[in-house]
Amino acid sequence: MARIIDIKADKRTALEAGCAALAEGLAIAIPTETVYGLAADATNPAAITRIYETKGRPRFNPLICHMADLAMAENYAEFDPISRALAEAFWPGPLTLVLPLKSGTAIHALATAGLDSVGIRTPKGFTGELIRAFGRPLAAPSANTSGKVSATSADHVEADLGGKIPLILDAGASAVGVESTIVKVENGELRLLRPGGLPAKDIERVAGKRLLRSKKAAAPIEAPGMLASHYAPGAAVRLDVTDLRPGEALIAFGPEKLPGAEHAAITLNLSPRGDLAEAAANLFDYMKKADASGAATIAFSPIPDEGLGEAINDRLRRAAAPRE
Ligand code: TXA
Ligand code: MG
Repeated sequence: MARIIDIKADKRTALEAGCAALAEGLAIAIPTETVYGLAADATNPAAITRIYETKGRPRFNPLICHMADLAMAENYAEFDPISRALAEAFWPGPLTLVLPLKSGTAIHALATAGLDSVGIRTPKGFTGELIRAFGRPLAAPSANTSGKVSATSADHVEADLGGKIPLILDAGASAVGVESTIVKVENGELRLLRPGGLPAKDIERVAGKRLLRSKKAAAPIEAPGMLASHYAPGAAVRLDVTDLRPGEALIAFGPEKLPGAEHAAITLNLSPRGDLAEAAANLFDYMKKADASGAATIAFSPIPDEGLGEAINDRLRRAAAPRE
């Protein structure tokens, strides 16, 4: 059992306990607006190793380094003008920039998996304060067992990793609900490495450029979390359903009623009014609830591929991918 501290009830204790655990080299769960993170001191190799071990994550998969603000990030990475404009427009927020790592910084190679680039973002709210108080960047992947559905509440973290970590800092449900959008500027071009909580259109508006998408899944070293079979619940997943088969769990979207829905093991609607931001915020929680119903298959209604729908559909395709 992890100690859970409600930051709304006692922020000072949360900051003190968080800093103390991080200084000891422990990995702890932190709230962010996207999903909960499993955080450790990005300059401490033993601490970073704890993240990989706790998640069962392959070590060739680099971690995002979380910073208090752009000024802190500039100590660790080289910003080109487009990346800087994006950071100024969207930080703190659900955007990760992959940037050239400055040489000789304190970020340990275990955090970047030895790459000469680093993924950086500045989270909104309490965790920004925690990083400022701690004074060093925090390496933090999503706080879930590798390959499983990400956590958007302290309860999700406790259920998955509670037996393995000492502390969960609880700020309630993550407002965005899907991980950050990851982009990289390369040879003057802007590439989308992972769709996420910041819609591609918003990024294109500020950058004044189209976001290039990979035709196939990004190469493992570019964005390993992008590979197939990720975000997998225990149940099988069926997408874009137009009718429900008996005994399936239904995760619907929008006001329409699906033929066969009356036979669902459980019905959850990501957003009855068809709002994609609401759907993203509910996505992982509803996947876990549908899984807990015991149904052998979770069926999803079609979700439009625009705005946050791009990130939602990306996660659903990975949840539905064949498992190893
Ligand atoms: O919203 C988020 O991004 C959450 C919260 C906790 O901040 N974090 C998160 O981390 O989703 P994780 O580890 O589950 O996903 C990080 C992704 C991985 O796919 C990884 O390969 C990619 O970021 N990444 C990290 N550093 C990279 C780099 N230098 N180059 C390319 N991809 C990188
Ligand atoms: Mg993850």
